[in-house]
Amino acid sequence: MATRLVIEGGRRLGGEVRVSAAKNAALPALCAALLTSEPVVLENVPDLADVATTRALLEGLGAEISGESGSETRVQVARLASHEAPYELVSTMRASVLVLGPLLARAGVARVALPGGCAIGVRPIDQHLKGFQKLGADIAIKNGYVEARASRLKGARITTDLVTVTGTENLMMAAALAEGTTVLENAAREPEVSDLARLLTGMGARIEGAGTERIEIEGVTEIGGARHRIIPDRIEAGTLLVPGAITGGDVTIIGAAPRHLTATLAKLEECGAQITVDGDRVRCQGRERPQAADIITSPFPGFPTDMQAQFMALLGAADGLSKITETIFENRFMHAAELNRMGARIETEGSTAVVRGVPSYQGAQVMATDLRASASLVLAGLAANGTTEISRVYHLDRGYERLEWKLRALGANIDRAA
Ligand code: EPU
Repeated sequence: MATRLVIEGGRRLGGEVRVSAAKNAALPALCAALLTSEPVVLENVPDLADVATTRALLEGLGAEISGESGSETRVQVARLASHEAPYELVSTMRASVLVLGPLLARAGVARVALPGGCAIGVRPIDQHLKGFQKLGADIAIKNGYVEARASRLKGARITTDLVTVTGTENLMMAAALAEGTTVLENAAREPEVSDLARLLTGMGARIEGAGTERIEIEGVTEIGGARHRIIPDRIEAGTLLVPGAITGGDVTIIGAAPRHLTATLAKLEECGAQITVDGDRVRCQGRERPQAADIITSPFPGFPTDMQAQFMALLGAADGLSKITETIFENRFMHAAELNRMGARIETEGSTAVVRGVPSYQGAQVMATDLRASASLVLAGLAANGTTEISRVYHLDRGYERLEWKLRALGANIDRAA
């Protein structure tokens, strides 16, 4: 398995490329199948390592899954074979915690390894657990595992201390089968939460207010199967537009949901790119050199933390000084040091990065630390003079479907190497 990407930079990129379905909507959608013995058919599951991990996790729990990733995927959990998400899987993918809510609701018991820290921060799941307790579950932590039990969950009013995306999703899935009404206050408004609510509603759940900060779920006694088409990936879409801006190119993405991209598109414009939206197509025409801009990450509809690293690459080559403030994760600047190896002038202190734009990057050997950090190194490599070699690209395969193939279609010189 090739573990490095080699990029010859310096080309202006242009052309059209299609956006894949959203990773962060596909993972909860797959886990939602645990709520029912009937089949759930997902029409456009992306071909990603995180999807493969989720499939393995669900198969361990008794799911029968047919269909290749990238095409229609049918998941059926006629009978639960286990109620445990083992450490081996949770430690490679934190989103594994999304099985907790459905397992608890359907089986009344769940044992899920505690995720622990990861490359972008501590990332506790205390808000998930507090919510399950409000729904009447007994929660214990034993030998590194969360053990949750409940005879039947009971609807409750839950106000999370902070906005959590998978926390909202987990609680929404659990509440769907609870007795009575659950109100989630301070809920995440991310499009992926709304997409899951749409799927659950198709499965017979009664949910109102998804996409707002107050979601009301009236529990039902049974959830059935459904067919569902996953929304386009707004982070992949944003990532694919940056090459237009960073290489002074002209890139059009197709099959996007521009209403999910508002903050990203506004920032690209602030960086001097010309953005044209036409239905599900978004065109990004870059200028000779991007302009500096300040960024503060925040929950949707604010600027997404999942686009922060990619914009750091863009601003690193911009004319002027930019300030980036990361408010969601405490340790999400690992890419700064790698970009500096490529000639960037970035200083980080706590949650702030000061980026002094340089006229151009230089190719270098760099190392990917997490998914979005990998993407930022690829983007810098596309704009760099000379050859960039990125190691540990398995991070990229977790969440980008055929990224180098798509970039090649835009004219990039990018290849895998052993
Ligand atoms: N948090 C807590 N306690 C909790 C839950 C969260 O303190 O119980 C904190 C986190 O540590 C973090 C903040 O709250 O500081 C927000 O975390 P959130 O729970 O919203 O993140 P998540 O649900 O674990 C999802 C995405 C991430 C994305 C974040 C923020 C999925 C599978 N993952 O993670 O995606 O960065 O929301 O939008 O949906 C990625 O795709 O690269 C990625 C990391």
